[in-house]
This record gives sequence, structure tokens and C-alpha cells, in this order.
Amino acid sequence: MSHRLFSLVGKTAVVTGAGANGGIGHAIALGLAQAGAQLAVSDIDAAGLRRTSEELEALGCEYLEVPGDSAVPAAVEALFAEVDGRFGKLDILVNVPFVFPSRERPHEVSLETWNRMFAVNVTGYFLCVRQALPRMLERGGSIINIGSNAGVSALGRGAFAYSCTKGAIHMMTRELAVEYAGAGIRTNAILPAQTMTPGLQQHLQDPVFRATVLPRIVGGLPKGRLMAPAELVGAAVFLASDAAAGVNGVLLPVDGGNLALNASGTYR
Ligand SMILES: NC(=O)c1ccc[n+]([C@@H]2O[C@H](COP(=O)([O-])OP(=O)(O)OC[C@H]3O[C@@H](n4cnc5c(N)ncnc54)[C@H](O)[C@@H]3O)[C@@H](O)[C@H]2O)c1
Repeated sequence: MSHRLFSLVGKTAVVTGAGANGGIGHAIALGLAQAGAQLAVSDIDAAGLRRTSEELEALGCEYLEVPGDSAVPAAVEALFAEVDGRFGKLDILVNVPFVFPSRERPHEVSLETWNRMFAVNVTGYFLCVRQALPRMLERGGSIINIGSNAGVSALGRGAFAYSCTKGAIHMMTRELAVEYAGAGIRTNAILPAQTMTPGLQQHLQDPVFRATVLPRIVGGLPKGRLMAPAELVGAAVFLASDAAAGVNGVLLPVDGGNLALNASGTYR
């Protein structure tokens, strides 16, 4: 077995949702770059994306920075057109963005919130996949969706709409894996557990969340602490690389043992 199997030298990747400094997409973008990939990074947060690009530049990575809303078809088309113009090919797509504006009980979720969450968390992934697949049909490729432990078992606490979007992403992953296996296009999902990112920090601003929910979260993480974005990177590099040539349709928990722990179990 050679480390070359894990190399991404010569491969071109698109990473959406790469603009949150300290976020999972940001960590994965830098990790793919360190493994040798050339990158197009995108995010609705143009200022955050600029900071990610500066870090890619410091790594000596060949990159393309395309701010935009991944839930808007024209913006997604423009992103992939820029990839064509700059790199002329695509090997890897990593779908990361999500919105989870506030915790709301199922009967309190407005149709507007539900639709926006599905637009970003599901339709945005579909729009990128729809652009990526034709570009991968001739040469194969790797699509990586960021799912969640919330798409596997229920979180409660007003995560209803979010969890539904993640469940949809898990099925999107499996359907794509089956449909395109013969074309050499692998689709897998990484399922993080609660990870310290700007997205989670937003919820930690709420004193009630900190006092009541955070201890429950940590109680479900056998390491006794939140995950760190850096802990997600190795799985992404692996799934993107030829080392994962036979890995397709997998929902890979990268959760420190969260899903392994029975809801009634304890780690001490
Ligand atoms: N952090 C966690 O605890 C955790 C746990 C399980 C799964 N996840 C998943 O991991 C992924 C990343 O989460 P994170 O916590 O790193 O988030 P984050 O908030 O740190 O980063 C998400 C990024 O998505 C971007 N984004 C939002 N809407 C967008 C849009 N319409 N178009 C383009 N970009 C958009 C944001 O600007 C941000 O840069 C998400 O899919 C999330 O569901 C996170």
C-alpha cells in the first residue's frame, strides 16, 4: 500500500461552503489542497471566502474563488462554468453548506424556514451534483456530501427541519452511488457529530443551549468533548482519493463514536 494512493495531485475539486473560518468546509478545502488538489472554493460569505483563499494561497495551492449562493441555479452554473474555464475538468465535489436559523419545534416551523433549509441544505447539493455529474461521466469522480448524525437518529430539541434535510442528503448519496457506479463516479457522505465551528458557535451564544443542551451533546460524545473540524479532514481526503476506489454509497460517521454509543449508554 502506497501513500500515493491518498495523493490528490493532478485532481480538481469544488468545495462549496468553504468560507467559514473554523468551519468544516474551510478545513476540508485546506486539507484537499495540502493533499495536492487544485481547488475552486465557493461560499455565500464573500469575506469569509476571501480569508480561505488567502490560506490556500499561502499553501501554494492553485485555486479559484467564486462567491455565490449554492441554492441559486444561476450562481451554481456560473461556478462550474468558471471551473471549466480555469481547470477544464472536475474530479471531486464536496457539498458542505447548511442553514439552521433557529431551533423550532416541528409544529412551529414556518413554511418559509422549511423551504429555505431545504433550498440550501438539499437543493443546493442537488444543483451542484447536477453540474458535476456530466463533467465526471467520461473520467469518473468523487462526490462527497456532508451529512450528519442528525440524519440517522433524532436529536429532538427543535432540530426537526435540519434533521429532515440531512436524511434527504443521505438518500441522495445512496441513490447517486447506485446510479453512477458504472461510470466510475463514487458518492459518499461524511456524517460529523457536533463539531466546534461557527455554525455551532451560533447556537452556543444561547445561554439555555449552553446550560442544558451542551452537556447532553458532550454526554453523547465518547471523547467527552466536541469534535474539531480538523478531525473531519482525513475522511474527506480519503474519500476523494484513489485509496477509496472501492468505496461508494457509504454514510461514514466521523463522530468520535457518537453513533456507536447507545442512547442509554455512558462512556464512564
Ligand atoms: N458543526 C457541527 O456540529 C455539525 C455536525 C454535523 C453535521 N454538520 C454539517 O457540516 C457542514 C458544515 O457545518 P459547519 O458547522 O462547519 O458550518 P459553518 O457555519 O461553520 O459553515 C457553513 C458554511 O456554509 C455557508 N453557506 C450557508 N449558506 C450558503 C449558501 N446558500 N450558499 C453557499 N454557502 C452557504 C456559510 O456561509 C458557511 O461558510 C454542514 O453541512 C452541517 O450540516 C455540522
